[in-house]
Amino acid sequence: MREKVVIFTGAGISAESGLRTFRDMGGYWHQYRLEDVASPAGWKANPEAVLNFYNERRKAVLEARPNAAHLALAALEEFFEVVVVTQNIDDLHERAGSSHVIHVHGEILKARSTADRSLVYPLTTPELALGDRCELGSQLRPDVVWFGEEVRFIGEAARHFAAATKILAIGTSLSVYPAAALVDEARHSAEKYLVAPEAESVPYGYRFICGNAASVVPHVVKCWTEGRKPC
Ligand code: APR
Repeated sequence: MREKVVIFTGAGISAESGLRTFRDMGGYWHQYRLEDVASPAGWKANPEAVLNFYNERRKAVLEARPNAAHLALAALEEFFEVVVVTQNIDDLHERAGSSHVIHVHGEILKARSTADRSLVYPLTTPELALGDRCELGSQLRPDVVWFGEEVRFIGEAARHFAAATKILAIGTSLSVYPAAALVDEARHSAEKYLVAPEAESVPYGYRFICGNAASVVPHVVKCWTEGRKPC
C-alpha cells in the first residue's frame, strides 16, 4: 500500500501559467464584483455578463500551459498515491498528467443544463453564448460552482485528507469555505506544508514555505521522492 499524498491547490498554482488569481493585486475580484459574475443572482440579473466573464477565463485557460509545479505533481504519482483536490476550474493538472483530480468548484471546460444539472457537456469552443441550449432546450451555463451553491465532492476530499501522510497546499488564500476547511481534516501526524509567496495565516500544524509554485513545488517533490523532508 503506497503512502497517500494529498495536494490542495488554488489559483496561485496556475499564476505562472498566466492565469489570474482572485485576491492578489490584479486579481479578478479587483476588477469584477463576484456577486455580478459568480453567483446565481448575477446569472439571473445578467446571464450574458456571466457567460462573457467565463468565456474570457476559458480562452485564457485554453491558451495556458501547465507549469513546472503541475508537471512535478504529475511525476509524484510514480512514487506515491497522489490525490489532487483543487479549487481551480482549469484543466492544467489533467494536462500535466495528474490522474486523480477532484474539482470541488467545478470545471470551466464543461457546460451544464439549467434544467437538469446531470446534463453536462464538454466544451470544445471557448465561447458559451445565450441561446446555446441543452437537449431539453434549456440554456447552458458554465459547469462551475458559484458563491452560494453547493461545492462538490467535499466529503470524498475530506476522507482523502484524513488518510494522507503528506499534505501540500499550494497557491490558495484559504479564504473560501467549505473548501478552505479541508486543510483541518489532515492528521496531526501528517507532514503538512503551505506554499505561497505570502500568507495571511498558516493553518495549525502546517509549515509555510515562502515562494512561487513553479520553483518550490519541484523542490518539495524531489525531497519527497528521495525520502527527505523539504528543507
Ligand atoms: N505560486 C504560489 N502561490 C501563489 C502564486 C504563485 N506564483 N501567486 C499567487 N499565489 C498565492 C497568493 O499568495 C494567494 O495566497 O495564491 C493565492 C491566491 O489566492 P486567491 O486569489 O484567493 O485564490 P484561491 O485561494 O484559489 O481562491 C479560492 O475563491 O473566488 C473563489 O472560486 C474561487 O476557487 C476560488 C476560491
